[in-house]
Amino acid sequence: MVDVLLGLQWGDEGKGKIVDYFAGKYDVIARFQGGPNAGHTLYIDDKKVVLHTIPSGVFHKNTINLIGNGVVLDPVTFRRECGEVAAFGIDLKQNLFIAERTHIIVPTHRALDKASEAAKGHEKIGSTLKGIGPAYMDKTGRNGLRVGDVLLPDFRERYEKLKAKHQHLLDGYHFNEDISAWEEEFFSAVEFLKTMNIVNGEYFLNEKLQAGKQVLAEGAQGSMLDVDFGTYPFVTSSSTISAGVCTGLGIAPKWIREVIGVTKAYCTRVGSGPFPTELHDATGEKLREIGREFGATTGRPRRCGWIDLVALDYTCMLSGVTQLVMTKSDVLDAFDEVYACTAYEVNGTQTRQMPFQLNGLTVKPIWEKHKGWSDEAAANSKQYNELPAEMKAFVTAVEGYLKVPVKFVSNGPGRDQVLEK
Ligand code: GDP
Ligand code: IMO
Ligand code: MG
Repeated sequence: MVDVLLGLQWGDEGKGKIVDYFAGKYDVIARFQGGPNAGHTLYIDDKKVVLHTIPSGVFHKNTINLIGNGVVLDPVTFRRECGEVAAFGIDLKQNLFIAERTHIIVPTHRALDKASEAAKGHEKIGSTLKGIGPAYMDKTGRNGLRVGDVLLPDFRERYEKLKAKHQHLLDGYHFNEDISAWEEEFFSAVEFLKTMNIVNGEYFLNEKLQAGKQVLAEGAQGSMLDVDFGTYPFVTSSSTISAGVCTGLGIAPKWIREVIGVTKAYCTRVGSGPFPTELHDATGEKLREIGREFGATTGRPRRCGWIDLVALDYTCMLSGVTQLVMTKSDVLDAFDEVYACTAYEVNGTQTRQMPFQLNGLTVKPIWEKHKGWSDEAAANSKQYNELPAEMKAFVTAVEGYLKVPVKFVSNGPGRDQVLEK
């Protein structure tokens, strides 16, 4: 069967750490969407590792990892990442597989991302500039190159054809940076990619499922960045919700069992776009400082605010979330009061539903105040029951609103800092 683990907010919920925590229970960990815009942080032997394309099960020797067809892969960042992981003694030839239908990010995708964002001026999306949008545009526009193509004798010609198309667009943007160094690096990374396990992902996975193997599908980004249901147009270009698992891996819905939604105990967003519960004050600063809220991929400061139950209720609905993991509860340890947004007030009317679009709307969050626990020792708790009563009351309130049980609470970045409820 397939369990799905995905982010319920605007990304960076701590998915990587939680996948690493669960990975030992699964035979396969599979990424189904996104690309190097993702930054999933793990601590292995107290060393920090940030994974962008490789699934977060890679440090478990008996777990196989699959980069699914729904992902977009940049050979350059992929090779660099493989080097970092291999330095831990992990043999990627043994435990990493790449679907041949996975689309490739080429240097001109990155150039187009940069040029398009620059042209948008103050309306820019705040893209990670990894070429994600242009690569998915070529996928749906039926121009893309796929991992399987690198093995074909005419790969270079196919590449040149795509590059010529991109050049027209880049000329329109008056983009004239020299990308020849990027190209050189790209072709050398393609040679590396050819040496890796390239497989037919859909048969690979379905054969494992038929044989009774357990699979965890690892989401990237967050549900509020979903191309259909996120805060469009300030979103990413893939399906980040559970529906994306079937198309991103080539498996049928019947295989899906649990949908594990990860949420922070508060909320963050990096990049532009609406964020109803954002705090522009000292409390927001305090969350950023204690939570060390700086992007794992870009280093940008993350915008911070209290937990948004309206948005979480929406994203739990979209993905059919069956259980929750609440991360970064320790960040709230230093607060006397914590808040949760239970409704939006729009034009004088309260609603618990996500409006068609938030941009341009004045949304006033309706707050529910909770007593804080002001107990910095809570981060040392090793069992859920040891946590302060006020924190447990906060968890109960969240699950009461969402009608989905919180099964795990994460109270620190460490590999073992997860408490089962
Ligand atoms: P992802 O993209 O969802 O995998 O999350 P990121 O890795 O981008 O961001 C999560 C950040 O929070 C990383 O720096 C993690 O090391 C850290 N982290 C994860 N869980 C916890 C937690 O429970 N408490 C604290 N303090 N940090 C955490
Ligand atoms: P993980 O998997 C947080 C955001 C960008 C930008 C928007 C579009 O680590 O949670 P893109 O590069 O996809 O064109 O950017 O989406 N974004 C993320 N924010 N975490 C991520 O991934 C993100 N991936 C993209 O900041 O606002
Ligand atoms: Mg991240």
